[in-house]
Amino acid sequence: MCGIVGYSGYRDCSDVLVGALSRLEYRGYDSAGIAVFENGKIEVAKCKGRLKDLVAKMEIDGKPQGNVGIGHTRWATHGEPSDINSHPHSGEKVTIVHNGIIENYKVLKEFLIEHGEKFLSDTDTEVVAKLLGYYYKKNPMEPIVTIERTIKDLEGSFALGIVFEDFPDVVFATRRESPLIVGVGENESFIASDVPAIINYTKNYYLLDHDEIVKLENGDVTIYDDHGDIEEKELMTADWDMDAAEKGGYPHFMIKEIHEQPTSINTTIKPRIVDGMPNLEECSITLDKIKSFKQIYIVACGTAMHAGLVGKYVIEKLAKVPVTVDMASEFRYRNPLVGKGDLVIIISQSGETADSLAAMRLAKKLGAKTLAIVNVKGSSIAREADMLIYTHAGPEIAVASTKAYIVQLSVMYLFAFELALAKGAITQEQCKALTAELQNTPGIISDVLEKTLEITQYVGTKLVATESLLYIGRGLDYALSMEGSLKLKEISYIHSESYAAGELKHGTISLITDGMPVIAVATQSDLLEKTVSNIKEVKARGAKVILVAREDFEIDEEAYDYLIKVPKMQDILMPIPTIVPLQLIAYYTAVHRGNDVDKPRNLAKSVTVE
Ligand code: F6R
Repeated sequence: MCGIVGYSGYRDCSDVLVGALSRLEYRGYDSAGIAVFENGKIEVAKCKGRLKDLVAKMEIDGKPQGNVGIGHTRWATHGEPSDINSHPHSGEKVTIVHNGIIENYKVLKEFLIEHGEKFLSDTDTEVVAKLLGYYYKKNPMEPIVTIERTIKDLEGSFALGIVFEDFPDVVFATRRESPLIVGVGENESFIASDVPAIINYTKNYYLLDHDEIVKLENGDVTIYDDHGDIEEKELMTADWDMDAAEKGGYPHFMIKEIHEQPTSINTTIKPRIVDGMPNLEECSITLDKIKSFKQIYIVACGTAMHAGLVGKYVIEKLAKVPVTVDMASEFRYRNPLVGKGDLVIIISQSGETADSLAAMRLAKKLGAKTLAIVNVKGSSIAREADMLIYTHAGPEIAVASTKAYIVQLSVMYLFAFELALAKGAITQEQCKALTAELQNTPGIISDVLEKTLEITQYVGTKLVATESLLYIGRGLDYALSMEGSLKLKEISYIHSESYAAGELKHGTISLITDGMPVIAVATQSDLLEKTVSNIKEVKARGAKVILVAREDFEIDEEAYDYLIKVPKMQDILMPIPTIVPLQLIAYYTAVHRGNDVDKPRNLAKSVTVE
């Protein structure tokens, strides 16, 4: 998704903007641009391509010189990636950058054309720029009034960075639905779509609410509420630093984040375990509060939804409460039979995914209680949920989610243990034993990392020329296979499907050809025999089987070509160590194929549009 930044201070603004945008690159983009006040005039530099293309362009055309400005990385929605469609866009005396989608841009564009405006680009953003110019003409020297009036006409989502020609030291910004933070340093201030953009300048920031407007001037920050009155807001402090937003010696963020998983789990579960028992009171979750839920829905997208699938198995098995898992994009349009007395759990790393947010709002409207499991502090989903469990994975920069997934799992377990206890489905002793085993997972993951790095690299070399492959598993292994398969396809661009192993015979097995790779997951003792017989079925038809299995399982060597062993834990907890080699296989395959692992094509880290 687009990234926006803005700066008002004493440094070389072009450098600050490009640096800040480079730390938002993970969001995905296809063009970039900046606008900087140079001797009181707004100078724009923008082009299609990566930030390095913008820098190269500025080396030839001259870099705007000044201390105040705005910047943007664009992920095309309206209009192809091109120089002209790149942001910033301008209207009469005003220049803007925008993240989001203006749903009523066509009506507004017609209105503006009738009033004599001419458009250069195909973007919805230029409509906002021209509309701001239109209202500024009616309210000269009144930027706040102009912004307020303009956003009244906008439908959809936006985070806007705005500069007016008449106010050369000032950056304005506003938001609705799209994320925006306001960084506060010493004699300098910032706007950005996300904290990593500004973390090397300041850890202190404000979160803007919908339709609030902020003014950055000579390092001062003034925030106006949606009535135009100045308001005081709580200053937040990021609890992580620059190192967390840098690669720290690893070649990619993804592999760094895979290695951070033991720490992420530890930081997430430690404060929620008291005297060996799960304790979610700080998240306003008590045994009393959750014991009455009869039906649970877990709603999320992509990897977060896959964490929900593991949650379903675990909750149903331990707490005996029925769980339905939905993709948020389906849930919101299928008239779900959700209502009072139900719990809807929304899982989201970013806390800003448009479909997940809309699904949560729908669930609330239908009378259900909502619980959000979110990584990004202060994000929209976190702010609007009835109950909230933050995962403490730290910033996840790679587009392919790894550490956020594993901490989502760890939280699902804690919640399932607590719910099972509340329902009287497990005893205190059983709960303690499960919790103790969960506490062992960080150590076990470190072990898996050490032991599977080499074999997964090797398997990656074997998959490098593959065009298509299958993942198979049963029960929890099936849920895990779905995540393994998604990881591989998103970064390696290899077509991959995940199938419940027992379902193969009903159609999919016809895809197996001589030499086709099949990644089989077998970690569940009660399903082992059945899974192995499915593996033998594909092997007999020529598949090359990469088997990821619990180390103590005795499996006929004829059944596989490569074996990746995972340490033994209780069946129910096996997804945590087992996802690690699946992540590594995806990572090394993509690396061997020479792909841009951290920024796979067409993907955005946080999907804030439908
Ligand atoms: C895949 C991936 C995506 C996200 C999905 C939801 O690696 O990262 O599938 O899981 O877009 O995003 P969040 O969790 O931010 O709601």
